Amino acid sequence: MGHENNTILGHGADNDGIEEFDNPMPTWWLGLFYVTIVWAVIYAAHYHGVGGRSQTGEYDAEMAAALAAQPAAPAVVATGSTAAAGAGGGKGVYTSNCIACHGPELKGGIGPDLTDATWIHGGSLADIERTITVGVPEKGMITWGPILGPQKIAQVAVFIHDAGGGL
Ligand code: HEC
Repeated sequence: MGHENNTILGHGADNDGIEEFDNPMPTWWLGLFYVTIVWAVIYAAHYHGVGGRSQTGEYDAEMAAALAAQPAAPAVVATGSTAAAGAGGGKGVYTSNCIACHGPELKGGIGPDLTDATWIHGGSLADIERTITVGVPEKGMITWGPILGPQKIAQVAVFIHDAGGGL
């Protein structure tokens, strides 16, 4: 391994007599070093060229996916009133899906009372909509987002918000 020679670099006089041999790096070490250079070139070419990937691209894609997964909150909040958002639809959604845990009068049971002003996860329309969408799985509140979709969730959120306890 390596090619040792006896050439002395001649710093001895400057360094308290400590001499340095001119020995090249071992072959195996140089080999590894060159491999990393070749690897870097291939990797960069593949990442930026062949694969066409970029961090900004991935970021944009993730943001777009996250946005698509959100309920259409602004539109609903804008409609605001019970009539505009279709409380009839909201009551229907509530009756079919929520009564079992929150009771026919929204007074609670397995789940908490939804008519009082006490909220665990916030009582604004946006809060209620978010709680329903993401759920509280560890406490038994189902993640309704994928089950009901944004439209029904918006309706039932308005229905609950207007039932008395909404902030
Ligand atoms: C399987 C039982 C169950 C069903 C069905 C259920 N919930 Fe819940 N819900 C819960 C529990 C339990 C909690 C309390 C979570 C906690 O303690 O954090 C809760 C909490 C909530 C909250 C938050 C209350 C607060 O104080 O912040 C809202 C809003 C809510 N549910 C709405 C709904 C709606 C709308 C439906 C129907 C689409 C529904 N729930 C169906 C069990 C249920």
